[in-house]
Amino acid sequence: MKKNTRTFLYITAGIAALAGLLFGYDTGVISGAILFIKDQFALSSGSVQRVVSAVLLGAVFGAAVSGALADRFGRKKVLVVTAFLFAIGAVGAAFAASVAMIIVFRMIIGVAIGVASYTAPLYISEISPPEARGALVSLNQLMITCGIVVSYLVDLALTLGTNEWRWMFGLGALPAVVLLLGMTALSESPRWLIGHNRIDEARAALKKIMAEDRINSEINSIQQSLVIKTGSWKEALAPWVRPALFVGIALAFFQQVTGINTIIYYAPTIFEFAGFSSHKVSILATVGVGMVNVFMTLVAIRFIDRLGRKPLLYIGLIGMAASLGILGLAFYLPGMMGALKILTVLSVLFYIASFAISLGPIFWLIIAEIYPLKVRGRAMSLATLANWLFNMIVASTFLTLTEKLGKAGAFWFYAAVCIVALVFCYLYVPETKGHTLEDIEKHLKRNKGLKAFGEL
Ligand code: BGC
Repeated sequence: MKKNTRTFLYITAGIAALAGLLFGYDTGVISGAILFIKDQFALSSGSVQRVVSAVLLGAVFGAAVSGALADRFGRKKVLVVTAFLFAIGAVGAAFAASVAMIIVFRMIIGVAIGVASYTAPLYISEISPPEARGALVSLNQLMITCGIVVSYLVDLALTLGTNEWRWMFGLGALPAVVLLLGMTALSESPRWLIGHNRIDEARAALKKIMAEDRINSEINSIQQSLVIKTGSWKEALAPWVRPALFVGIALAFFQQVTGINTIIYYAPTIFEFAGFSSHKVSILATVGVGMVNVFMTLVAIRFIDRLGRKPLLYIGLIGMAASLGILGLAFYLPGMMGALKILTVLSVLFYIASFAISLGPIFWLIIAEIYPLKVRGRAMSLATLANWLFNMIVASTFLTLTEKLGKAGAFWFYAAVCIVALVFCYLYVPETKGHTLEDIEKHLKRNKGLKAFGEL
């Protein structure tokens, strides 16, 4: 690849990945903001959960319509409108005069997140040459974790005044504007243009990312793959695709119901449960959580193609189950006091590290790998939608769960789900390392059932 082309590609992917950064920022920022909103409006646990999950309700809706929108209007236009929604939502939530208004504007941000979580990786994968595609899928997860850590740092920097939560929300408008301007300047995905018979524009877009002499053959191969790619919902639900659908949706369930976002959205709240009395110290500990998340995602990216997906899933899930078990114990044993604080911070850090090397990146990677080409778009959007739905259910029940089962009980519940997830991964998740996507598809076609699929 020529140097200019490489630079251009990185800039293009970097701009689109700002959508991942916004996904991370706008979901992470609530963890600090909620402490102040709760105090200012004297919210009950139920209302706190509603504020936290407003974004998720929007995201469920956004993910549900994202596939159809990206196909009809093009990836670029959809991302431009999404950036606009991110900006409106951020400014609106910052100036909200009531809890109801916060909820409405956070829902608008949620719609943007839901659409972006599907469209941005799709756009990036469509403009990348095959040799760079794998790394770019995980780059999206890296950007999400960076967005989360930036939001925690902003939360920390703003814990000095009284109306800080407004700035916490409002600052999200900055990357949104950069995404808006950046995407306006970028070309549409050549694959989408060819699919809509706009060959001249596709040629111009391809010129920027590859050598002239490859363009004609690239247009031909995209045209051929588009012929195969028009699978219907009926085909996506065909019996031989079902095992893969099952694995994708089950992994969405496990990625969420093992409790990751109780930590991402509620870490400072959990630290306050453990006896930290200042918002500032709780948010400071949360910054540590965000940093470990970024660092361990980098470690995962390094090992994912060497060790394989399943070993990382095993290591991660055992680590998650153990740390949640200890976290529960710390809340269960009476008279822990000072020790409770330390144990809570350590187990939360260990938990996030274990998630970041396993279910974090691997869920998104596997749903990009296991579906037959023809129905990949539809199947991926279904798994994405399931992910947001389970996310919303967990976030909107966590505090109630701690009230009903006790804090220890709630964490033990998530630990138990980790163990079920471990067994599930052993039995059903295929090791995709080193297999071509065509191999995986052929195996599915042989229709040997889930167990055999797991032994690919
Ligand atoms: C999950 C998000 C989570 C994030 C944390 C992503 O893979 O889908 O729900 O907040 O990881 O890093």
